[in-house]
Amino acid sequence: MTDLSFLRIDPISRHVSLDVRSPEFYQNPNPAYAALLAQTPSFYWEQQEQWVFCGYDTVNGLLRDKRFGRQILHIASREELGMAEPSPHTRHFDAAERYTLLSLEPPEHTRLRTLVNRAFVSRHVEKMTPEIMALANRLIDGFAADGAVELLSRFAEIVPVTMIARMIGIPDEMGPQLLQWSHDYVGMYMYKRNRADEEAADRAAREFADYVRTIIAERRIAPQDDLLSHMIHTEHKGQFLTEDELISTTIVLLNAGHEATVHQIGTSVRLILENGLDPLVLFASEETTERTVEECLRLSAPVHIFQRYCLEACEVDGVALKFGDTINLVLAAANLDPAKFQDPLRFKPERNEGANLSFGAGIHFCIGAPLARLELNLVLPLLFQRLPGLKLAASPKVKDIYHFHGLERLDLQWQA
Ligand code: HEM
Repeated sequence: MTDLSFLRIDPISRHVSLDVRSPEFYQNPNPAYAALLAQTPSFYWEQQEQWVFCGYDTVNGLLRDKRFGRQILHIASREELGMAEPSPHTRHFDAAERYTLLSLEPPEHTRLRTLVNRAFVSRHVEKMTPEIMALANRLIDGFAADGAVELLSRFAEIVPVTMIARMIGIPDEMGPQLLQWSHDYVGMYMYKRNRADEEAADRAAREFADYVRTIIAERRIAPQDDLLSHMIHTEHKGQFLTEDELISTTIVLLNAGHEATVHQIGTSVRLILENGLDPLVLFASEETTERTVEECLRLSAPVHIFQRYCLEACEVDGVALKFGDTINLVLAAANLDPAKFQDPLRFKPERNEGANLSFGAGIHFCIGAPLARLELNLVLPLLFQRLPGLKLAASPKVKDIYHFHGLERLDLQWQA
């Protein structure tokens, strides 16, 4: 039995006590995931009173399994499920979540995803390369001569939010406000959030939705060449998106569209620097760059854990699950499964062992993966190229925001 202060594993009963808000865990979760994978990759999580799955094949299979969904209220009522009624103090947040891709299952999910998907396919997204490069270069111009920077606030937070906002059709000046709304909004996904977090998330959802409503009204009258106008004016089998669907979709794209990418830029730079790897080798070609980006995503996924409802009683890895059970899939742990990846805790960009699960799999596979990958493949080499001799100026700390995994700040130095 493993017994660390934040982790107790009993492989016989498959019961695990894991405090994800313990700094020892979230500062460096990979050793704990490795211990879980070695002793009991499927376990009952005492704090959440739910089953958790970490094995690569199991997680990959569950993400694609139609017996599990991100939603269950389309086939059962709260009463039948014994689910608490939504709280009045989170009603704006709940309304914003109601029609997101992440809250829907087929057939609604298919309809919405079809309408949004075209904008996110690789060949469309790749056209944004010059714009991403211009923005990234302009930001670096702003600090290159200083020899030091806090990278998250001056760079990593700005690139993804600006690009997704432009795609949707929201002016660049809204960037700082969007970041604030988004930070407050995603506070709702944190483990052990408090009432103040919930109220902040609700307020952000209300303000965010009001703002999106005004932009929708403008685009209805005067369509532009942007995603919002496209979503408003495109039909699928004779149907248009409703106002509520448009608002939910826009909010989820803005939030999902940058939070994870910001974290991933920060942790990737940190991983490369801490592993003492030569950027000239890592970014020698498009192929080595892609492999480096994927290895960073594998070793340090920006979003660790996702849930599914059991929509049909079944057994998974010897665990009997009943209709309505909530299960947890730890993508960040699945990426470290030694059955899939040799020597999994080591940074080895040359590995060629198949896809990591950081963008999920199945019908909810990240719609923004081509955009996120493009941004990472462009900005990581650029940073190392433009800031010679880049190194850490201070040891970075991971934010206490599990299930996200990102840094509080990233202080860097180089020869200016
Ligand atoms: C490194 C960056 C990113 C990572 C690691 C990431 C990860 C993920 C994962 C794991 C899922 C699946 C969730 C599940 O199965 O329950 C997902 C879904 C999603 N992501 Fe991302 N994401 C990233 C960037 C983006 C960007 C840039 C956008 C938008 C432009 C985006 C928009 C979405 C949306 C809308 C969904 C829901 C798709 C659906 O349910 O059909 N993400 N993302």
